[in-house]
Amino acid sequence: MSALAPPALASAPGEPASGRDPRTALEVRDLTVAYPTPAGTVVALQGASFSLRRGETLALMGESGCGKSTLGRALLGLLAPPGRIERGTITLAGRRVERLSQREWQPLRGREISMLMQDPMLALNPVLPIGLQLSETVRDARGRVPPKREVRARGMALLRSVGFEDPDRVWRSYPFQLSGGMQQRAALAISLVNRPRVLVADEPTTALDVRVQAQVLDVIRKLQAELDLAVVLITHDVGVAAALATDVAVLYAGRLVELGPAQQVLATPTHPYTAGLLACLPSPSGGLPRPLGGHPPSLIEPPDRCPFIPRCARADATCQTNRFPALAKQRPGSWRRAITPSLTRSRRTRARRQRRRDP
Ligand SMILES: Nc1ncnc2c1ncn2[C@@H]1O[C@H](COP(=O)(O)OP(=O)(O)OP(=O)(O)O)[C@@H](O)[C@H]1O
Ligand code: SF4
Ligand SMILES: [Mg+2]
Repeated sequence: MSALAPPALASAPGEPASGRDPRTALEVRDLTVAYPTPAGTVVALQGASFSLRRGETLALMGESGCGKSTLGRALLGLLAPPGRIERGTITLAGRRVERLSQREWQPLRGREISMLMQDPMLALNPVLPIGLQLSETVRDARGRVPPKREVRARGMALLRSVGFEDPDRVWRSYPFQLSGGMQQRAALAISLVNRPRVLVADEPTTALDVRVQAQVLDVIRKLQAELDLAVVLITHDVGVAAALATDVAVLYAGRLVELGPAQQVLATPTHPYTAGLLACLPSPSGGLPRPLGGHPPSLIEPPDRCPFIPRCARADATCQTNRFPALAKQRPGSWRRAITPSLTRSRRTRARRQRRRDP
C-alpha cells in the first residue's frame, strides 16, 4: 500500500483499538450479530474486526447470505428485527455506539454515518419532491435546521456535485420523474447532505446498467475526496471493488476470512475461499466465471471448524481436527484465517519446485 493511500486497517484485528489515530472513522471489534428465529438462532456475523480511516474504502465481499448487509446495517443501528448485537463493539468517530437506543441513534444517522441502499426508492419518499426531501434532512453542526436560503443553497450545490446539470429541475421533481441512475444520485445527495464521516453503500450500483453504474461510481469517488469520507462498500462486483476500494474484506458464513489491501486481495488472494469467490464472479478482465461448487453452511449453530471444509479443495485432516483459527497476519496490512499455508505461499513453493526441476 502506497504512502498516498495509507492502510484502512489502522490496527490489526484483535489488537487494541486504534482510536488514538485521529483519522480513524470507524472501528469494529469482535462484532457478533444473531437473529433468533423459531428454527434456531442464525449467527449472521461472528467476531468481525476491522477499522477504517477517513478517505478510504473497505469493500465487503462474499456470497449471498454471508452477512454483508447484516454488518452494514449493524453499523447504523438498523438491524432488521429480530437481529441483535450479541457481542463486540462499534466505535464511530471515537464514540461507542453498539448499545445506543433508537433515540440516541437519531442525531448520528446522516451526520456521522449514512447509508446508500441498492434500491433508491427505499430511501426516497415517492410522494415528496427531491428538494423537499433534501430540505427536511439538512441540519447545521448542532443539529438545528438552518435558514431556508442556506438549506436551498446547500441542497442545490450537492445536486450539482452528484452530476445534475439542471439541479433546479431535479429539486422540483418527484422520484418517479427520474431515471434509476438519477434516483440513486439523488439518494446519494440526501445521504451526504450533512457531511457524514462514514457512508455504508449496500450494492449501490447493482440495479443499474453499466454506463449509469460508472457514473454513480464516479460521483461516489468524487464526493469521497471532497468530504474525506470513509466508505464501507458492499458489492458482488470485482470491477466495482477494484475501482473504489482501498481494502477488501471477504466474509464467508458470517466470518471474515481475508482482509487486506484491495490490489493484493483481488490479484493474489491468499485464502482458498477468496480465490474461489473471485473466480466465480464477473471480472473486469472478462474471463469466464468458474462456479464455486457446493453451498455455504447453515448459520444456525455454525461449526467451530472451518466452515469452508466441504467446499475446499485444499481441506485436509488438520482442517478437520483444529478449531477455526483467528485472523492471522499474512503480509504487511493483510490478515487471513485458515489452517493450511496461504495460496501465495503455495504458489511460491510450486514455482520454487518447478525451478529446481526445470532450471
Ligand atoms: N431479519 C432476519 N431474520 C432472520 N434471519 C435473517 C434476517 N436478516 C438476515 N438474516 C439471515 O442472516 C444471514 C445474513 O444475511 P445478510 O442479508 O446479511 O446477507 P448478505 O451477505 O447481505 O446477502 P445478499 O448478498 O443476498 O444481500 C442470512 O442467513 C439471512 O438469512
Ligand atoms: S482451513 Fe482448510 S478447509 Fe478451511 S479454507 Fe483453509 S485449507 Fe480450506
Ligand atoms: Mg445484502
